[in-house]
Amino acid sequence: MNDFTYAYPTKIYFGKGAAAKHLPAELAKVGKKVMLAYGGGSIKSNGIYDEMMTILKDAGKTVIEFSGIMPNPTYAKVQEGAELARKENVDFILAVGGGSVSDCCKIVASQAVTEEDIWELEFTKHEFPTDAVKLGVVVTASGTGSEQNAGAVITNEDKKIKTGVFGAHADFAILDPQYTMSVPFKQVISGAFDTLSHAMETYFGKPQESFLSDEINEAVMRNTIANIRKLIENPDDLEARSELMWDSAMAENGILKIGKITDFQAHQIEHQLGAYTNCNHGRGLAVIHPVLYRHIYKEGLEKFKRFAVAVWNVSTAGKSDDEIALAGISALEDFIKEAGLPTRFRDMGITYEDVLKPVADSTNITAGCCKQLTREEIFEILQECF
Ligand code: NZQ
Ligand code: ZN
Repeated sequence: MNDFTYAYPTKIYFGKGAAAKHLPAELAKVGKKVMLAYGGGSIKSNGIYDEMMTILKDAGKTVIEFSGIMPNPTYAKVQEGAELARKENVDFILAVGGGSVSDCCKIVASQAVTEEDIWELEFTKHEFPTDAVKLGVVVTASGTGSEQNAGAVITNEDKKIKTGVFGAHADFAILDPQYTMSVPFKQVISGAFDTLSHAMETYFGKPQESFLSDEINEAVMRNTIANIRKLIENPDDLEARSELMWDSAMAENGILKIGKITDFQAHQIEHQLGAYTNCNHGRGLAVIHPVLYRHIYKEGLEKFKRFAVAVWNVSTAGKSDDEIALAGISALEDFIKEAGLPTRFRDMGITYEDVLKPVADSTNITAGCCKQLTREEIFEILQECF
């Protein structure tokens, strides 16, 4: 296990009716002007917008609306939000939505209090913002765990890069599983697979030897898989949605990462694919994971064997080490199909192969879990995914 420091700044209010129960007390701690930030309008059709407005008005707040945050939020949208927050001198940002709204607002909160361009600050000066407008997140679609940390994934359209940008930690997050009932089912599954991906990218990080963080991780992976299966049986299963919402938080609140260096190579590939195709995050990951793992399992044979047995219940009887590891990866792929997720980019509407080379050439290469990839290998993986 590596040395670590762990602190957790975000207060979580989990459960049905959590906003009505807890938001008033949180709002009482902040100033009068609140920026209500949201996406393309789903909160207007499912009643969450009206509920938020009522709570905000009852708390005596002046509401400034920042709407239209798109899935895979852009850096231009971040700048629009920051400009509005500065112009209106807002005291607090309430982000209401999925990972995209939460991500966008984490950077808006930081950009609003500095004249320096955050992108330049982080990627040219290699410095990180230290100040931000206070932020609260109301999660309406779970999976990314974005509300749990200060990292945001932003698409810089000018530079053709989708990558992690460091911004504000939310002071609190409201996780009400009931809010997820109106999320399109395809997105629910895509979000839940994202959670599984976060757990895997952490599990296969360094060190490879398992210890407490990995044992907790195995429980999170098994629970995510089991509850996706329950939702396939009954999409209205609120208990399963609740479990998945907490799995999502657990995968990103740092607990599983304690003592580990995470990998996130599948994410790096998917993010760059997103920069070129604006594809759905969880669905892109579903295609990439099994292909990536078949490329690297030999270098991490022990961990892939453990994954097969502990997560997928693969029987070891009569199998070689390679066969056990590969059976685990096949079980993952079978599960992806069972969940109705794509196994090839074509299945998700990416039919133009010419994007693969530029994606391979611009993907961040991580330190690697058991094997560091070369650009050529990333290109091969992308071609196999196609
Ligand atoms: O825009 P609205 O109208 O809100 O509609 C959204 C959007 O169309 C809809 N939706 C959300 N809640 C809903 C709902 N529809 C009906 N009822 C509700 N209650 O769902 C669609 C997708 O929303 P989005 O926020 O884009 O999805 P998700 O939560 O999967 O977030 C994806 C983004 O998060 C990034 C991804 O790369 C992607 O940009 N990630 C952020 C991470 C982080 N900060 O830690 C980690 C992840 O690895 C990920 O990269
Ligand atoms: Zn993800």
